[in-house]
Amino acid sequence: MTALFEPYTLRELTIPNRVWMPPMCQYSAAPEGPETGVPTDWHFAHYAARATGGTGLIIVEATAVSAQGRISPYDLGIWNDAQVEAFRRITRFLTAQGTVPAIQLAHAGRKASTDRPWKGGAPVGPDAHGWDSVAPSPLAFDDRHPAPAELTVDQIEDVVEQFAAAARRALAAGFEVAEIHGAHGYLINEFLSPHSNHRTDAYGGSYENRTRFALEVVDAVREVWPDDKPLFFRVSATDWLEDGGWTADDTVRFAADLRAHGIDLLDVSTGGNASGVRIPTGPGYQVPFAARVKNETALPVAAVGLITDVEQAEKILANGEADAVLLGRELLRNPSWARHAARELGGEVRVPDQYHRSV
Ligand SMILES: Cc1cc2nc3c(=O)[nH]c(=O)nc-3n(C[C@H](O)[C@H](O)[C@H](O)COP(=O)(O)O)c2cc1C
Repeated sequence: MTALFEPYTLRELTIPNRVWMPPMCQYSAAPEGPETGVPTDWHFAHYAARATGGTGLIIVEATAVSAQGRISPYDLGIWNDAQVEAFRRITRFLTAQGTVPAIQLAHAGRKASTDRPWKGGAPVGPDAHGWDSVAPSPLAFDDRHPAPAELTVDQIEDVVEQFAAAARRALAAGFEVAEIHGAHGYLINEFLSPHSNHRTDAYGGSYENRTRFALEVVDAVREVWPDDKPLFFRVSATDWLEDGGWTADDTVRFAADLRAHGIDLLDVSTGGNASGVRIPTGPGYQVPFAARVKNETALPVAAVGLITDVEQAEKILANGEADAVLLGRELLRNPSWARHAARELGGEVRVPDQYHRSV
């Protein structure tokens, strides 16, 4: 038995293996009109290929809970019924392949309204389908970004509601797992970190106040997300700042709070909330943050970040550093990574009948 191909049960859901795909924006939806935020043929082909490749669970890219919460005008959204209908085609196919369909629910906060990365990723205005961004405090992310408007308490409550409505729609669209995007400097992360949250009301200042919005979102989503289905949270475990940022110690404390509020697994990433920081990347560079949460709290974790090699991935699980591994760019290169890994390790993975001659 290999660790990578051992099924994993969370609540009432059994995931066939531990090779998972993290959310990766495709910036491929229409930027305006009735098709705004609606998954396209590109999304179907992209997710279908990773499913036929044996991936155990696929987290569909950051999907905005409102038009204002998109990272770019080309992001997926889940605030209307046309979007739900189009997602159904994807979840149906993934489910038929034995892959668990998951979705990341997101609000981009002060990093919203940017161009597609391959077009430079700069903030865009109304002449390029852009809009004004919002955040806990009116602090621009960097020199390129305009300052966001500070959210009022009423508007904060609206966003909490939008996350709950998005979760309801994700369920109707056939997703088995929802992941709340609390990482990479987007809205929830902006509230968590003292670097981006300078509020003086109940949503800023102390650890309790800075985590309030995140936990309100978790509570609202958990309320509508069925008890038998798992709920994930993606965190940036550190801002990578020397001072004045969110730290790995904060993450450990927060993980325990998330567990108490009904989160079933922490997807442990880092960074994205402070510009100009040096991040010491290298193979598996974020794994120690996941391992710390796993060892110091009772919350299951998934590790992500430059996990590319079969032996490396197997070891992370065998050493007890994580409960699952997420392979991002490696799955873009090789959609059938799970099948290759199963072959190498002697693990079992579902192969589509149509491909039986390739086993
Ligand atoms: C094209 C691309 C799009 C991404 N979009 C998202 C996203 O929608 N949500 C998110 O949390 N992370 C996103 N990420 C980060 C990945 O989920 C992952 O954490 C990161 O790529 C590191 O893993 P890797 O080294 O295996 O690629 C994206 C990464 C890439 C390469």
